[in-house]
Amino acid sequence: MREIPSDFGRVVVGTQAELFSEALRITLAAQAAARPGRFLWALTGGSTPAAFYKWCVESSALPPELINGTHFTVSDERHVPLSSPDSNFGNAERQLLAPLGVATDRRLPWMVAWPVAEAAEAYRKTMLILAGPGRAYDLCFLGMGDDCHTASLFPQTPLLKDDGGLLFGGQEVPGKGWRLTITPGGLRACGKIVVMALGAGKAAALHRVHRGPLDVENVPSQLLKTCAENVVWLVDEPAAAQL
Ligand code: 6PG
Repeated sequence: MREIPSDFGRVVVGTQAELFSEALRITLAAQAAARPGRFLWALTGGSTPAAFYKWCVESSALPPELINGTHFTVSDERHVPLSSPDSNFGNAERQLLAPLGVATDRRLPWMVAWPVAEAAEAYRKTMLILAGPGRAYDLCFLGMGDDCHTASLFPQTPLLKDDGGLLFGGQEVPGKGWRLTITPGGLRACGKIVVMALGAGKAAALHRVHRGPLDVENVPSQLLKTCAENVVWLVDEPAAAQL
C-alpha cells in the first residue's frame, strides 16, 4: 500500500483485499479507543460496502468482540422500508449483521416507518443516549458518488449549506427522494471516518475533491477538510489514477 498527501485526510492506495484489511484494522483500533461496550459503528450504502460485507462474512474476518461489542447503524438512509433492496440498513442487515449473528438490540436502523422529521428526531434521541451530547459515531464508513456526494449530502442541498447545529437530519433530494443522513456537523463529531472509493469510475470525483478548487456546495465530500485529521480514504489504483 502507498499513501498520497491530501488536505482532506490520509489517502491510502492498495488492492481491494489490502483496503478491506486496512478498514478492519482501523475499525478494531476505533473500537479499542471507544468507551468499553459503547462502540458505535455506522456502515453505509453502495456497491463497495456490499463487497466489504461479503469479504467480512466469507473470510470470517470480524472477531467475536467486534461482532458482540458494537452497535451498528448506517450513516444515511433512504426513506424506504428496511425490506427494500434500496435500504442501506436493510442491505447491511441482510449481507452482514444477520450472517454474523449480531444481536437484534445492537442493530440501530433509522426509523423509516415514521415521517422524515419524526424519524430524524427519534434517531437523534437514540444517538444522544448512545454517543453522548455533541458526539456522533465512533466510526463512520462513507462512500462517494460520481457527483462527489457523501452520506446523503448531495450538491446544493439544504443540510449541506446549513445543518442547524444538528448532527442528524432529513431532507428531500431532487430526483432521489427523501433521505435521512448524518450532517456536516455530525461528521465533525465522529471519532473516525473511513471513505471507501473503488474502481476507475471514482477517479474523476476523487480528483475534484482532492485536487480541485474548494467548493463544498458543489463538491460535498470536500466538507471532510474540516475534520481531515480523523479521515482515511481507502482507494484502489484505478480510483487513484488522477490523484
Ligand atoms: C446513494 C448511494 C450512494 C453511494 C455512493 C457510493 O444513496 O445514492 O447509496 O450514496 O453510497 O454512490 O457508491 P458505491 O459504493 O457503489 O461506489
